[in-house]
Amino acid sequence: MSERWTPDSWRTKPVQQIPVYPDAKALGEVEAQLAAFPPLVFAGEARNLKKVLARVANGEAFLLQGGDCAESFAEHGANNIRDFFRVLLQMAVVLTYAGALPVVKVGRIAGQFAKPRSSPVEKVDGVELPSYRGDIVNDIAFSAQSRTPDPHRQLMAYRQSAATLNLLRAFATGGFANLGSVHQWMLGFLKDSQQSRRYKELADRISDALNFMRACGLNLESHPELRATDIYTSHEALLLGYEEALTRIDSTTGDWYATSGHFIWVGDRTRQLDHGHIEYFRGIKNPIGLKCGPSLKPDELLKLIDVLNPDNEPGRLTLISRFGSDKIGDYLPQLIRAVQREGRVVVWSCDPMHGNTITATSGYKTRPFDRILSEVKSFFSIHAAEGTHAGGVHLEMTGQNVTECIGGARAITDEDLNDRYHTVCDPRLNAEQSIDMAFLIAELLRHDREGKVKPIPAVAGF
Ligand code: PEP
Ligand code: CO
Repeated sequence: MSERWTPDSWRTKPVQQIPVYPDAKALGEVEAQLAAFPPLVFAGEARNLKKVLARVANGEAFLLQGGDCAESFAEHGANNIRDFFRVLLQMAVVLTYAGALPVVKVGRIAGQFAKPRSSPVEKVDGVELPSYRGDIVNDIAFSAQSRTPDPHRQLMAYRQSAATLNLLRAFATGGFANLGSVHQWMLGFLKDSQQSRRYKELADRISDALNFMRACGLNLESHPELRATDIYTSHEALLLGYEEALTRIDSTTGDWYATSGHFIWVGDRTRQLDHGHIEYFRGIKNPIGLKCGPSLKPDELLKLIDVLNPDNEPGRLTLISRFGSDKIGDYLPQLIRAVQREGRVVVWSCDPMHGNTITATSGYKTRPFDRILSEVKSFFSIHAAEGTHAGGVHLEMTGQNVTECIGGARAITDEDLNDRYHTVCDPRLNAEQSIDMAFLIAELLRHDREGKVKPIPAVAGF
């Protein structure tokens, strides 16, 4: 790997999963325009996220990362953003309480548009067209025109990301996210939940804690730590031309940062050591993620860590494992051992979605809730056995009441999938399944905590 890095040095390397645009001139004009636009996030925010992720790496916090598989232009609206954020906050409160750990909230949002595909083409009734690669690249409709990569979509994605981020920031700090309200939503959820008895005990204990705080004279609405929260944005940085245009020098440190989102990750299909994506990622200072699937060998992982985090900076690198519920036991322990042996500091997070996708009899791509949960459970027990911190989860989820994953407390079946199957890419947990999942993960966190009681330093925000 060459020493000299520039935001465009990835262009000298082979790349995968980046479309060929038929109109190269239009692409160049769009990239020049994006390069002149304001950054979406500030370097200081990315540094703050790195600091809290360092605490996750150190076993002092838990990472909750979630959102759409792919954001879409059609689903861009205030209600979607609000409902997603509300569910994420409810999950965070349950996890914070059960784990007695601060929860770092990171959305797959405000930039999660570009999708890697297992096949470059899609065939329907004998007609073959380029695959849909996310709204930032082409349109999902099955026609030659829709599937042609259109660079102007990058401008739409930028503007949608800016608007989404603007609303998220307003929700996070403007009073919407105060702890008292989040708990009230939780009680509303439990009233209608199939599992309410199971979760009531935890919810009651949170109610007691809040009542105790109020009785001590603490006003939940006026305390900044309880009235506001931090939410960070993340996406797979797949479309490197777009990322390059938004890569900027931070004037306070002179370092390069991706300003398209706070946290970006490399996908499982684009993490080749000598390819363009790893080249791009090594030069930016943001906290970053690396997806780890079954094909990743321990020695390859160590080489990637050397390139991506040469200074062993805590919080810089999150390893997001995604093996499948039946494979995690065969693959994760050897990765953990290699990383431990070399003394590398990472955040371990579990994506229990991408290794557990099946095609239902109905033909829909789906994920069984039980397999998702099973991978999370194995993740916790493997880390307990290895003496490492099960640092977080990475979920594909929505605040909407969709029917995309089967199972869960309401037992969505294959026949139900057709009712509200709205995803433009992979199946997501719906609002209720996401909160169910949070309660189940809470039990694992509580179990973990009982195994190792240590004082948790005070932090701002919940
Ligand atoms: C994703 O997170 O949507 C994704 C494509 O994941 P992976 O790279 O792990 O397949
Ligand atoms: Co996905």
